[in-house]
Amino acid sequence: MTESAVHPDTAAVTVRPARSEDVPRIFENIGHWAHEGRMLVRPMQNIFENLRDFFVAEIDLGDGPVFAGNGAMHILWGDIAEVRGLAVAPGVQARGVGRRLVDACEAEARRVGIPVLFAWTYEVGFFERCGFRLIDKSRELHPRVWSECLRCPFYVGCNENGVVKRLSGVPMPANLPEPPPAQVPPGIR
Ligand SMILES: CC(C)(COP(=O)(O)OP(=O)(O)OC[C@H]1O[C@@H](n2cnc3c(N)ncnc32)[C@H](O)[C@@H]1OP(=O)(O)O)[C@@H](O)C(=O)NCCC(=O)NCCS
Repeated sequence: MTESAVHPDTAAVTVRPARSEDVPRIFENIGHWAHEGRMLVRPMQNIFENLRDFFVAEIDLGDGPVFAGNGAMHILWGDIAEVRGLAVAPGVQARGVGRRLVDACEAEARRVGIPVLFAWTYEVGFFERCGFRLIDKSRELHPRVWSECLRCPFYVGCNENGVVKRLSGVPMPANLPEPPPAQVPPGIR
């Protein structure tokens, strides 16, 4: 459990590692929100290749558990991981599903000894409620956070926000190698 408060509806929400059979639903859910301009589209091949990063949430509103969303924790370097592909299914927002998915990403980062979580987002308020803080993307960013920018339609003219959370009690890994140089999109700095 993280420092965040327990949402009143979370009793009906469960989160588990994703399975191969979940991929069409994950793909459709991300595609829905990408079409709305809320997140980066993710090809199905990318979801299969990174399936062990993904968690699936299910919610039981009285008729048994149904798909409620997905989120992924992708390791960028020894000291940082990204919350990506986070999408709550339309119709079940504001019930604590997003927070539970971020909690699962945080628990996984802790399990592998990654001390910092990062996300690109338009939903700064949500991430702040989950313990993240907004950072100045022209100054403070780890070189590895630009890893997916080359496939983003807003590579030039990026308008997403960077948010970061230092996971309390997780030490910086010993003997951490230097990351490769950043491929920072034009116009950021
Ligand atoms: C953004 C998103 C992940 C939030 O998930 P959710 O299940 O609706 O949010 P939760 O119910 O878990 O909210 C957790 C807390 O954040 C707050 N919150 C949620 N969305 C918020 C927002 N847009 N602004 C400010 N606070 C917000 C909630 O009020 C709640 O606060 P609490 O601490 O008082 O309980 C979800 O709405 C979503 O998938 N949106 C579309 C796709 C998207 O934007 N994905 C993010 C890509 S990085």
